[in-house]
This record gives sequence, C-alpha cells and structure tokens, in this order.
Amino acid sequence: MNFFDFSFSTLGDPIRDLSAFDCGRKEINKFFQKDALDYQNELFSKTYLLSPRNDLDKVAAAFTVANASIFTRMLPNSRQKKVSYEVRHSKGPINYPAILLGQIGVDTHFAGHKLGAQIIEFVAQWFSSQENKSGCRYLIVEAYNEDRLLSFYAKCGLKPVFNDIEQERIYRHLDDDKPLETRLLYRDLILFRRKSIRN
Ligand SMILES: CC(C)(COP(=O)(O)OP(=O)(O)OC[C@H]1O[C@@H](n2cnc3c(N)ncnc32)[C@H](O)[C@@H]1OP(=O)(O)O)[C@@H](O)C(=O)NCCC(=O)NCCS
Repeated sequence: MNFFDFSFSTLGDPIRDLSAFDCGRKEINKFFQKDALDYQNELFSKTYLLSPRNDLDKVAAAFTVANASIFTRMLPNSRQKKVSYEVRHSKGPINYPAILLGQIGVDTHFAGHKLGAQIIEFVAQWFSSQENKSGCRYLIVEAYNEDRLLSFYAKCGLKPVFNDIEQERIYRHLDDDKPLETRLLYRDLILFRRKSIRN
C-alpha cells in the first residue's frame, strides 16, 4: 500500500464522512470525528485525511499536526545533549522548534500495510523541506506508553528523549501512584539535509 495511491486532503476540504472511521482506539476516533475540526478552526492544529483514490468516501487514515517545541531548558543536561547530538554549534538555552504529530490513526481495514509508517516519513520530510516556511528541526510525538506502539515509532526513527522512565516521571512531575501514560519521542530532521556530523 503506497501513500501516493491515496488522495490527500485537509479535514473539512472537501467534507468527508468520518463516522465509519475506526482506527481501533475510541478516543482517537472521537478526536477525528468530533474535535479535530474545532481545533483546526481555532488554529491549534491541522488534520489531514487519506482516502483511497478509487473510493473517496472512505477515510483510510488521518493525522494531526501542530507547531511545537522541545523545551530543552527544562531537560536534564544528559537529555539536552542527546537531543542536541547533531546540532552543529551550540545555540545556547533556546527551545528547539518541532512539529508535533498530535494524532495518527489508520483505519483497521487498512492496518498493517505500512501506511502509518509512510505517513510519519511523509510528515518528517514535509516539515524539513525547503517549502516549509518556518524552522522545524524535530518531529515529536507524545506516544502511548505501550511496547507495540513504541516499537512502531522506533521503526519510524522516533526515539525516546528519556531512556530512563524514572527521569521522565520526574520531568512530568508525576506522583508515585500515577502511571506514565505517554512517552516523549523525537526524530532529528536535519538528517534529511546532511549526514551525521559524528561520522
Ligand atoms: C499505530 C498505527 C497508526 C500504525 O499504523 P499501521 O499502518 O497499521 O502500521 P504500519 O503497518 O506502518 O506498522 C505496523 C506496526 O505498527 C504496530 N501496530 C500495528 N497495529 C498496532 C496497534 N493496533 N497497536 C499498537 N501498535 C500497532 C506494530 O508495531 C506493527 O509492527 P509489526 O508489523 O512488526 O507488527 C495504527 O495501528 C493505529 O491507528 N493505531 C490506533 C491509533 C493509535 O494508537 N495511534 C497512535 C497514538 S500514540
């Protein structure tokens, strides 16, 4: 299944019926069906849909992106170093610009054909391309803390900012009885432009 076999559109333009969309996770279905347009109208995020070219009434996948930052100033030194690994000259204590993949869902009828992975590759290239009108150094995701999902994202080049779960709990100010529900993942998009400076 190739990303480019799908018609790509912005949520609401044209209007597509998302009522049958089911990625297997109720809260994400609900976001796309009920909330995403409101977020978009408020300029908080933008949602894109993929429909099979031969069946435009279907929605095969949806994803939402928003401008974001990696708040490096709030990270422990070791994490700052990890995230800055490919930064050529230290930029001082600035926050690093990023694109947040806020939501992603592939309808279960289209699952397991690498559509999710291709969407992530597309977003990473799109926001690091010359056409992007602002600086965007990283792709970030707040991923559910589930092994299968984390390994999906790892295959898509997204690594956890925190290797150590305890450190991530501290960063998020979590009480001892609260589970770590999401993990902050990142991918450095500079590697689309140049080879690693460490090689
Ligand atoms: C995660 C998701 C977008 C992957 O899309 P996809 O097109 O099916 O994935 P790909 O074919 O590119 O990759 C398959 C990998 O995704 C992972 N995966 C697939 N379905 C999954 C599911 N239901 N839950 C968690 N991980 C899943 C597996 O690691 C799989 O790897 P494998 O082939 O080695 O088993 C899709 O499963 C989905 O929409 N899930 C529900 C919504 C969701 O959890 N979104 C992410 C929130 S952080």
